[in-house]
Amino acid sequence: MRVVLGVTGGIAAYKATSIIRLLTEAGHEVKVIPTQNALRFIGATTLEALSHNSVDPDLYTDVESVKHVELGKSADLIIVAPATASFLARYAAGIADDLLGNVLLASNAPVLVAPAMHTEMWNNAATVANVETLRARGIEVLTPAAGRLTGEDTGVGRLPEPEEIIEAALALVSVRDLAGKRILVTAGGTREAIDPVRYIGNHSSGKQGVAIAREAVRRGAKVTVLAANIGSLQISGATVIAADTAIEMEHQVNHLLRDQDAFISAAAVSDFRVAEVSPTKLKRSQLGDQINLRLIANPDILAGVVSRVREENLDVRTVGFAAETAGSHWALAELAKAKLGSKGCDVIVANDVSESAVFGAEHNDALIITRDGKETRVAGTKTAVASVVLDILAGL
Ligand code: PMT
Repeated sequence: MRVVLGVTGGIAAYKATSIIRLLTEAGHEVKVIPTQNALRFIGATTLEALSHNSVDPDLYTDVESVKHVELGKSADLIIVAPATASFLARYAAGIADDLLGNVLLASNAPVLVAPAMHTEMWNNAATVANVETLRARGIEVLTPAAGRLTGEDTGVGRLPEPEEIIEAALALVSVRDLAGKRILVTAGGTREAIDPVRYIGNHSSGKQGVAIAREAVRRGAKVTVLAANIGSLQISGATVIAADTAIEMEHQVNHLLRDQDAFISAAAVSDFRVAEVSPTKLKRSQLGDQINLRLIANPDILAGVVSRVREENLDVRTVGFAAETAGSHWALAELAKAKLGSKGCDVIVANDVSESAVFGAEHNDALIITRDGKETRVAGTKTAVASVVLDILAGL
């Protein structure tokens, strides 16, 4: 997709670099149009290097190509981030005195504007009216986040996180091939208590599961996320339910399964839990130099879902993950096939977690195998992996 990124002159202009990086990594072509004031905060060279595209904000160069019309017509999506109060005023008034203003007026592409400014400026009646005008015209204007501002002050006015901006922008042009489908996704790593202080856990951050959930929402699905220890996770458009232990997760899955079209088991679920959880903190002074914990098996949630789907003849597609320390693609494929067989799910997504290559990372390298033996390899951001997993699921 061809994305025009307008950058206006505010302190948050440097965050445009993250937006460009995320967009290019997801395979989009990015054309950056900074205003002259934006270039006081960030250099054209940086924007060119990251976008792999030339950056020339001057309306009066390359006039013969009628650049503003060409850029406006060829854009599939326009994002303006950060957008200053001054930009909002000019855009609302239809002023086209620079390249960005001209491109916006010459384009029919969906537009997302991400404002960033001090709280007083955001709350000013002029800005409020300009935002209302833009929203009434169908422009998606994000509400800024609350938090630390440029100086010592805090309040509403921060630029939303680049991931949020992109998610909201892509939602404006998304393929809604999963519209109406209900998808249950597990994400994160369960924690099994030893005592009120300690637990047995794993390194899953939840990023891969969350990427799947966000992508499914973007494609129109009704998504429920069972989140194991992912903090205060919020995904706009999805229902998030905390399920921190394997038993809690199994309980929620059993409760919700009947209403789903698909179950995606991306969580790292502990295979064992402590048989006798101490109600009080275990004291080293009382334990001495050794501690023996008796562990008992947790339910295999995915295998349980597959059994229920068969026994109750449910119309639910099942996707399992396999976190393996394989060491080679050949070994990963063999382990993935074995897990596909033992779990009985429709699809297995295998990733090699050797040397912490996947846990907590932004990228993944996955081998996806379907029950009919079709293999697909995808390496890229966790969103890119999510997208291919959902393509395969949609095909089922
Ligand atoms: O969260 P990130 O930091 O982004 O990292 C992503 C990830 C590595 C956690 C993810 O991509 C992944 O591989 N998730 C599955 C991890 C895992 O538990 O793998 P496993 O091979 O142990 O389990 C196989 C499948 O059975 C998984 O779908 C798992 O959810 C499920 N399972 C496992 C044990 C259990 N008791 N019940 C289950 O349902």
